[in-house]
Amino acid sequence: MRLLSFPLFSLFLLVLCHAAPNKKKMNKKDLTKMVKDLRESNEPVTCVGCIAVAAPLAYVARLTPTEGIILWFAKMICSINQPMEVCDGITQQFREEFFYVFRRLANDPGKICAALIPGCVDPSDPDGEGWNIPLPPRPLSLTFPSPPPSPSPSSTSTPNILKVLQITDIHIDFHYEPGSEAECSDPVCCRGRGRGSHNPSVAAGFWGTIGKCDIPYRTMENMLSHISKNHQVDYIMVGGDIIDHYDWKYSWEGTLEVLRNVSSLFKEQFPTTPIYWALGNHEGVPVNSFAPHSVDEQFWPIHLYDQLTQMNKPWIKEDEDNKSSRYRGSWSTLVTDRLRLISINTGFCINTNFFLYLNQSDPDGTMTWFVEQMKKAELAGENVHILAHIPPRIL
Ligand SMILES: *[C@@H]1O[C@H](CO)[C@@H](O)[C@H](O)[C@H]1NC(C)=O
Ligand SMILES: *[C@@H]1O[C@H](CO)[C@@H](O)[C@H](O)[C@H]1NC(C)=O
Ligand SMILES: *[C@@H]1O[C@H](CO)[C@@H](O)[C@H](O)[C@H]1NC(C)=O
Repeated sequence: MRLLSFPLFSLFLLVLCHAAPNKKKMNKKDLTKMVKDLRESNEPVTCVGCIAVAAPLAYVARLTPTEGIILWFAKMICSINQPMEVCDGITQQFREEFFYVFRRLANDPGKICAALIPGCVDPSDPDGEGWNIPLPPRPLSLTFPSPPPSPSPSSTSTPNILKVLQITDIHIDFHYEPGSEAECSDPVCCRGRGRGSHNPSVAAGFWGTIGKCDIPYRTMENMLSHISKNHQVDYIMVGGDIIDHYDWKYSWEGTLEVLRNVSSLFKEQFPTTPIYWALGNHEGVPVNSFAPHSVDEQFWPIHLYDQLTQMNKPWIKEDEDNKSSRYRGSWSTLVTDRLRLISINTGFCINTNFFLYLNQSDPDGTMTWFVEQMKKAELAGENVHILAHIPPRIL
């Protein structure tokens, strides 16, 4: 879940704040007044900070408002604490998405500061749109099941207990090289490249390295093979973030290839065990980017959702949840006759998914869909387990 795109995110905020409200050109006087107004209002100090920091940089940005200059600026901010290659990569990755959103929001910078800074605005309704999710009426009679008694240590039969393997954030590095530099200046290391790779200060281990490295493929393979030989599991949940942390080098081809490879590895090791896959923020290209259907079609992660649907076969039948998996990357399925598993695509819950700044209200109807699923489960007397990558209230 680690975020590398943060420098760009900061710049995004600044660039948006630079845009004059209602197309009116903003000058130094306006900015000073805006800061003064904010200071005298009862807004939390961070709101004032948002504008105050934005003001001088916005002034610079306004003088030279071309894409090239803005990207150069992004790279400079990024390179304060990252190598240039990383900054080049990350700005290229986000270029299209960034300017797409920027152009559409340029007239409404207040919305951005309000949406970004907790406390600047009613957190339950950041857009001020009155976002509501209709809830079904409460059933007249509801009986809640009492929790099962905890099994006594002496009891030998445990008939209703399922054994589940849950794996998440494996971040496999297919280019991991044992013996390479494990303490490089890049955000991720252990690839045989660059300075010090012949004489590393800390050499990457054969099975992995504690520190700034992802794990090699062989470690994953070995672990799965060990588990399948030594444990009997009823089903498997994989919680997302299969992809490595080199998010300044992401491509759709690369991501889909890794997902195909890793899911076939799981299927090979557990040919008869149900395996359920959820999406993580690193499955997005660029990282954290999940475009809802309200933005241009060119940004929709159609192939990712198709791949997810493919990986969950044959354990999730496509018609079971009305194609939700292919539409929004969220799905719902019965694991046993009383247990339902629902996975929510939390790519719509991450604050560096820039598309959300265009419209934060229930992207792709995910929460509305979720409420429907919960209602159906309740009426059917099912228990529900929710599988998602980003925990609520984190980002
Ligand atoms: C997955 O990748 C590994 C390591 O590169 C390779 O050995 C293996 O053949 C690949 N498996 C598939 C099914 O492509
Ligand atoms: C499937 O989705 C469509 C479009 O959202 C809706 O009209 C239809 O009622 C849904 N069908 C079921 C079985 O949920
Ligand atoms: C935002 O998206 C929701 C659907 O997810 C839609 O109902 C709403 O009208 C949109 N709001 C705007 C301002 O486009």
